[in-house]
Amino acid sequence: MKKKTTIPDILKMKLNGQRITVLTAYDFPFARLVDGGGVDVILVGDSAGVVFAGHETTLPVTMDEMLYHVRAVKRADPKALVVADMPFMSYQTGIEDACRNCGRMIKEGGAEAVKVEGGSNMAHVIRAVSSIDIPVMAHIGLTPQSVHRMGGYKVQGRNEQAERIKDDAYAVQHAGAFAVVLEGIPAALAAEITAELTIPTIGIGAGPSCDGQVLVIHDILGLCDKYSPKFVKRYADLGPIISAAVTQYVAEVRNGEFPTEEHSFS
Ligand code: KIV
Repeated sequence: MKKKTTIPDILKMKLNGQRITVLTAYDFPFARLVDGGGVDVILVGDSAGVVFAGHETTLPVTMDEMLYHVRAVKRADPKALVVADMPFMSYQTGIEDACRNCGRMIKEGGAEAVKVEGGSNMAHVIRAVSSIDIPVMAHIGLTPQSVHRMGGYKVQGRNEQAERIKDDAYAVQHAGAFAVVLEGIPAALAAEITAELTIPTIGIGAGPSCDGQVLVIHDILGLCDKYSPKFVKRYADLGPIISAAVTQYVAEVRNGEFPTEEHSFS
């Protein structure tokens, strides 16, 4: 039986040159499927706000909603490391709020680590949360909670911005993050950061040289057609399969084909 993945396992994977696989899950059935598929890390992402709850951005997601998703994922008893994404305004308001809310994800949700967006500007938060033994995954580059500052979901770190992204990478490592998500940055910049950092880099739209990759499960299964970023690869197209099943059910109920004796009690 596969053993539980721990933070030291993830760090060892970088040292051994083993690629780290990360996918999102927000509920019990998907957590079972994703874990069964063998991922190393399940990220209970605040992307739930978009692909699960139907918001335009991740900004409206609350602590209570994230706790609900984290608990549902944990009930699947995954062998993968479970990382809880911290929602907007649950950690930006100061280290006391950050420690309390990150602590809730561990204590009430059962997560094994948390993720926060931000680089140098969030180093104080990463340091404080890590210092109370809550492992922190950082997230730099295209940070979706900064959508208004960025003026949309745009690639970050091109040209003169590259130095700022590198500074962010060093700042989160120095502050104690155990890993860092690099989102929406040029592949060459991600390769440089990955070579220079001692902590693993997890890429999304950051090219092939990162120590690991993360994608949103709804995107790779064709369950969200609201947007289709260049970095997403669709591994299955479940939308039409689900629609066809629903259409058939509706037709069979209407024409009396379902239920039959097979689906009835005597
Ligand atoms: O919320 C999320 O799912 C994320 C990943 C896409 C990195 O932050």
